Amino acid sequence: MHKRINPFRPNSPVNPGMFVGRIEEIERLESSLVQTRADQPAHFIITGERGIGKTSLMTYIRCLAQGSIVLENLKFKFLVIDVDIDRNTTQLGLIRRIECALTSELGKSEPARHFLADAWSFLKRLEVAGTKLNASGSAQCDEVLADEFANSFAAVTQRMCMQPQASGFADSFEGILVLIDEADNSSSALQLGSFLKLLLERLQRRDCNRVLVGIAGLPEVRAVLHNSHPSSLRLFEEHCLNRLSQNEVRQVLDVCIAHANDLNDEKVALTPSARDLVTRISEGYPHFIQQFGYSAFAMDVDCSIDEDDVIKGAFAPRGAMDLIGDRYYRNDFYNRIQNDSYRQVLRIMAEQNDSWVNRAHIKKHFKGTTSVLSNAIKALRDRHIILGKEGQPGVYRFQHRGFALWIKLCAQPTVVESLP
Ligand SMILES: Nc1ncnc2c1ncn2[C@@H]1O[C@H](COP(=O)(O)OP(=O)(O)OP(=O)(O)O)[C@@H](O)[C@H]1O
Ligand SMILES: [Mg+2]
Repeated sequence: MHKRINPFRPNSPVNPGMFVGRIEEIERLESSLVQTRADQPAHFIITGERGIGKTSLMTYIRCLAQGSIVLENLKFKFLVIDVDIDRNTTQLGLIRRIECALTSELGKSEPARHFLADAWSFLKRLEVAGTKLNASGSAQCDEVLADEFANSFAAVTQRMCMQPQASGFADSFEGILVLIDEADNSSSALQLGSFLKLLLERLQRRDCNRVLVGIAGLPEVRAVLHNSHPSSLRLFEEHCLNRLSQNEVRQVLDVCIAHANDLNDEKVALTPSARDLVTRISEGYPHFIQQFGYSAFAMDVDCSIDEDDVIKGAFAPRGAMDLIGDRYYRNDFYNRIQNDSYRQVLRIMAEQNDSWVNRAHIKKHFKGTTSVLSNAIKALRDRHIILGKEGQPGVYRFQHRGFALWIKLCAQPTVVESLP
């Protein structure tokens, strides 16, 4: 047991200092900020499977918008409001969260607090009136609420950007960035798509064009928005996050090791072959890289992290594969799928990595009858574990591609045995 600080972060989003890659996405998001401060907000949505790095990218964008990261002399000054969504989040909850963030950021002087209290007085009135503004509130209430909210939000934003002194605000901002993470968790009662669509339209009607909304979530978030309002998706430019390139994986490893050597007196090195091995087995999935890195770092005792440390770190009991499984996939593989034939299908598909696999291929390797196979495929699709290719019946792939990698590496002992 050594006391070195482990630089890898398998359990939390990476901080901007250790963030690697996503160059194209960052450029396009930077451009959204540029457009917004020119009164043309270009809202965005970041989608991607579990652990691919959505929250890390949101964190990066937050720092960029706040001006704590400056790229190519482009410094922004946005006020950023962070909101996470869970199953219980209501429209009123979202409104309160925004009100709270604005008040705590801007209400630093008496006149400012006065202005804000006035702008948000509708919330107090509604509470006093005891209107049933919970998830089951009537449509009419929601309308009134949405209108009043848009008025207040527009008034505060405009003051803050154009005439901050007039309301006693200490500072001016270029705009407001509202970041909504985990949006796939929205309940249908929240009606996130129509809430945002109507809000953004109302703001525009009030000439308030300095509010930028960024959403992140699993790919299902597209359906969540669409079901709530079919045209809400069109408001957002989508950035779909994929795996990192092999070079970027190496960079993540190098950045983390360099960081460890800044933090610790005891310096460590990652051997080139160990670095290649992590690059190979993580296949570009950020959360695999961080966990393999973490476990190999923890396994090492001689300050030279080699292939042996990587393999032991990955495949020992409570090693990286176990932890990744617990965090993301084991429940899907062993509990949500109660049937061995379903798992057999997944194993066959995982052999093809994360690519599209056709039914004939699965059938060729499947040990069981055609009807059992059909049931298995149907059950896996119903549970959104695999998805069908649009316009091509009988072609499937894993919804979460990292799941395929985990099954391949972990649930099939032969792969483990064949590792060097
Ligand atoms: N660009 C990156 N560079 C280095 N590490 C990253 C990067 N993006 C993500 N990671 C690492 O990958 C893991 C998952 O990242 P993150 O939590 O941002 O993903 P997520 O898509 O928000 O996951 P979830 O779907 O669980 O919310 C974390 O360990 C994080 O440190
Ligand atoms: Mg996240």
